[in-house]
Amino acid sequence: MFPDMTQPLVDPFQRTIDYLRVSVTDRCDFRCVYCMSENMTFLPKKELLTLEELDRMCSAFIGLGVKKLRITGGEPLVRRNIMSFFRAMTRHLDSGALRELTLTTNGSQLERFAQDLHAAGVRRVNISLDTLDAQKFADITRWGRLPQVLRGIDAAQEAGLRVKINAVALKGFNEDELFSMTEWCADRDADLTWIEVMPMGDIGNEDRLDQYWKLSDLRARLAERYTLTDIPERTGGPARYVRLEETGQKIGFITPLTHNFCESCNRVRLTCTGQLFMCLGQEDMADLRPALRNHPGSDAPLEDAIRAAIAKKPKGHDFDYSRQSVDGRVSRHMSHTGG
Ligand code: GTP
Ligand code: 5AD
Ligand code: SF4
Repeated sequence: MFPDMTQPLVDPFQRTIDYLRVSVTDRCDFRCVYCMSENMTFLPKKELLTLEELDRMCSAFIGLGVKKLRITGGEPLVRRNIMSFFRAMTRHLDSGALRELTLTTNGSQLERFAQDLHAAGVRRVNISLDTLDAQKFADITRWGRLPQVLRGIDAAQEAGLRVKINAVALKGFNEDELFSMTEWCADRDADLTWIEVMPMGDIGNEDRLDQYWKLSDLRARLAERYTLTDIPERTGGPARYVRLEETGQKIGFITPLTHNFCESCNRVRLTCTGQLFMCLGQEDMADLRPALRNHPGSDAPLEDAIRAAIAKKPKGHDFDYSRQSVDGRVSRHMSHTGG
């Protein structure tokens, strides 16, 4: 029996998959301590899907009902000629097939690319920023420089891109910046989302349990100064939002540890080599590259491979820091699957 190609992608738990995250490179110009080890071995360039192959891959997913495409990395904007890929995806926005084309970036290259991204149809960017202190920023990213990222954020806003700041909540690191970061985002009308640190990849001696700052605690602390109202707004990702009544701003919480949001998962992740990970927190994947490369003239085998992969999407991740140990960890680095 051939699957019905007119049906959207639905997994075994009746979740419709309409959000594809694509990591276009595993490389990055930073070395954030919770993400990478200092000496990372990256994939040889010849292993990467070409930009044309990435286009074919994404277009196949869009043909199967994907409405939201998020480009990630590593740092997506360090991939050579990546703007031509964004520009190519514009046609799917124009046709109405794609609702949103966006990216998650460390901001280092935005000063250069913000205008072009806007011209390609991007309207929102998620920028990772864990601290506003230049020395702490240099410490946490190892190779990053705060002023460069701040210029990138300015450039994004000047280009008309809505900015969401993603901050990984780290005990003893940015706890003391909860209010200053909140105010900084309010001042520049940027959204702010906090993320619980996940046990991904071998990152050296760092102890996740020591770093782990529960967002329920962070939220309680925020409530000491502001009135929080839960809001039903969703951006298609796992964040749950509150409004701070005093400032009107929106704060998001991504809580893979304290509240598992897998029941409403709507996404899958493609790596830069064409492997499809059905869950960020599981090792299962399907290699889509053979179906792509071995059939240059027809997308039918690729579409079959995508449907077969979605049919194996697991129920959820098993990250767990309870019992004073780290369970459910995955060996892949975050930069491999793009967060
Ligand atoms: P929007 O809702 O569109 O703003 O985006 P998003 O939250 O889906 O994307 P973003 O790249 O900002 O995601 C932020 C981080 O949340 C990711 O880098 C991951 O750390 C985490 N995250 C996103 N999706 C998942 C998921 O499915 N499972 C888990 N465990 N974490 C996720
Ligand atoms: N846990 C939680 N978030 C992480 N990120 C990278 N590694 C981790 C981790 N181990 C975040 C980055 C960025 C996004 C792509 O993923 O800070 O916001
Ligand atoms: Fe690079 Fe993002 Fe990983 Fe930091 S978290 S090293 S910016 S991919």
